[in-house]
Parts: sequence; C-alpha cells; structure tokens
Amino acid sequence: MFESLNAQPADKILALMAAYKVDPRDTKIDLGVGVYKDATGLTPIMRSVKAAERQLWERETTKSYTGLAGDAGFHDAMRDLILGDTVPPESFAAAATPGGTGAVRQGLELIAMASPEATVWISAPTWPNHPSIINYLGMKMGEYRYFDAESRAVDFNGMLTDLSGAKPGDVVLLHGCCHNPTGANLNASQWQEVADLLISKGLIPFVDIAYQGFGDGLEADAYGVRRLAKTQPEMLIAASCSKNFGVYRERVGLLMAVSQDGSKTALNQQTLSHLNRQNFSFPPDHGARLVTMVLTDPALRADWAAELEDVRLGMLKLRKQLADTLRKRTGSDRFGFLADHRGMFSRLGATPEQVEAMRVSHGIYMVGDSRMNIAGLNEASIPVLADAIVEAGV
Ligand code: LMR
Repeated sequence: MFESLNAQPADKILALMAAYKVDPRDTKIDLGVGVYKDATGLTPIMRSVKAAERQLWERETTKSYTGLAGDAGFHDAMRDLILGDTVPPESFAAAATPGGTGAVRQGLELIAMASPEATVWISAPTWPNHPSIINYLGMKMGEYRYFDAESRAVDFNGMLTDLSGAKPGDVVLLHGCCHNPTGANLNASQWQEVADLLISKGLIPFVDIAYQGFGDGLEADAYGVRRLAKTQPEMLIAASCSKNFGVYRERVGLLMAVSQDGSKTALNQQTLSHLNRQNFSFPPDHGARLVTMVLTDPALRADWAAELEDVRLGMLKLRKQLADTLRKRTGSDRFGFLADHRGMFSRLGATPEQVEAMRVSHGIYMVGDSRMNIAGLNEASIPVLADAIVEAGV
C-alpha cells in the first residue's frame, strides 16, 4: 500500500519555517510563519492565559469528555467577542475545533455536504492553506481579485466585478480582518458594499477571522463580520484563538453557523456536532477553557485586552519605523503602504528572485510571495531589512 503514495506538495510557510531553523547565521531574521514575537524574539504566554492556567490546574477535577461541540461557555464567550450583540443566541450554532484551520476545514465540509455544486470563492491571494483544503476536498473553487500589486491596496473594483460573476448559492471566503497575506483590508463602506452584493447575488459569506485585535482593535476588527451577521440570511464563521490569545499549540478554534431563520439552528448544531464526531470526535478542551476563563473573568479579560493592545500598538510602531526608514533610504514614499496595512502581515511586492536574494545575502526569511511577518522585526533589524530591500531593488 505505502508504495503507491505520492509525495504531497510542501506547504510553503512551513517549509520556510524549517529552512529558517537550520540556517546557522546568528544574524538571520524570521519574517515567515504568522506567529507573534516580542522584541526579544520570544512568543510569550500571555499573562492572563498563564493566570487562567494556574487557576485551572488548581480547580479542574476531571479530564472526562466535554460535549461533542465543545463547551457551551466557550461558544457564548466567543459569540460575544466576535459578534457582540448582533446575533441572538437562537440564530447561532457552533462547534469547537482544533484551531482555526479545523474550523475552516469543518466549514468547507459542511458546505460540501449541503451544497456540493457550490463554488467557494477565495481572494487572490489568500492564505495558501485555503485553496489547499478546498482542492483536497474536491470542491469547486473560484478566485476574486483582491490586491492591487501597484498600490498594495485592495483592488475593490476587481473584487466586486469578480464576485458579480458568482452564481447564487456560491460561497465567498472572506478574511474578517488583517488580510493574510497582504495586510490590505476593506474599510467600513466597502464591507457594506460587499454585504449588499452578497445579498443581491444570493451568495453566502464564510468569514475566516484569525487576527481580531491585531489590526485596529478588538471592536474595529470585528466590524466586517458583525455587519455581515446583521445583514445576511445565513453565514459561516471560522475563528482562531491561536494569535490573539497566543495559544497556538493548544489548537483553539470555533466554527459558527448563523441563520436568521432560527428554525434552522437545531439542524445546524446537529450537523456541526456530527462533523466533529466523524473527524476527531471531541474537540480539544484545555485551550478553549483557558480562553473562556479569560473572557468571562473581568480582571483577566481586562488584562488580556491591555496586553493585546500593547502587541497591536507595538506592531503599528514597527510598521511606521520601517516605512520611515525606507522613506529616508529611497527618498520616496513608495513604501508608505507598510504603515497603512494592518495586522501581522504585509505583502512587500518583491519578486521571488528578490525575496531569495534577501534570504541568501542577509538571512532574511519572508514567504516567496514577499509576505512579511511584521512581528518578526525589532528596532535593530529594521535598518537591516530596509537596506536589503533597497539592495535587492524592490
Ligand atoms: C500563517 O499564515 O503563517 C499562520 O496562519 C500559520 C500557518 O498555519 O500557516
């Protein structure tokens, strides 16, 4: 049997992570995988998460199974965080999943089950694992323009034009905030236009939200997903807690199904639980429980929000410093977009050859499409990166 296996395509982000690890240069700079790092290069455990973990260690009396869809307290706390009061509980079904990727995967499986002829429309570009999972599941896929390579901003006309060509019942995968890999995001009026288009064309939104709190703040980053939840008859949301709670390896995610028609909710819930049972049975609980404790304890929540805000402001400062340094080095404002982008990533706009040249000469690791993890920078590495960008002729 095993001899008939074919090698699978490598994930470019994970391959880059491995290459960085074995590079012996101590001057190397990791701008690859989307993991937050502080100025010393550490990915810290957040204070509130550590405090919750201590409490849990003391108080937890059993490791027996939770519900198939995870703990209801986790669903409620996440609904409040992501959707605020836009969705009444009776319109909302949810299932905890292993990470945001687990939620994306389960959401796609639900779509394939309910609507096998639907095309899933992804932004061009998007997180590489989106098309990879869609292809793996043998689903139909379409691409809508999203990024204008010249201005490094959203190609909004292209997006609307391409989505206008979708057929009723198709699904549109949207990044809730902090678009990965570009860092270019929709503004409030653009979200409204997208919401109107989805309704008029009968398209169903599937929002992947993995960086709430990293862009313009916890509330502002939820604007788009809340707008859709208010206006669309039905939608799916895949949420990750990996980044904004720093619980990457605990695998904490939630798939949510929202239906204005509350009579669908019981069936949605049953389907989400069934999908969990088929794929992995009970979802991991430890990380989800920590997140729930942080979100429901006012003191822990306040401390978490404050630490997250520091992280966000730190990344904004790095963005500004890099844009300023490049302005001085080039005498132009052509890298000003770095300060306008939001979230962990920016797409620099370098060619694969220029990206490779920066890796070879300076040990700078960014994804081949020139996606940079801004959190991988610090005050010392910014001038090094700016020089490398200029030297590579970006
Ligand atoms: C990324 O985009 O780098 C992260 O979401 C990590 C991953 O799993 O790819």
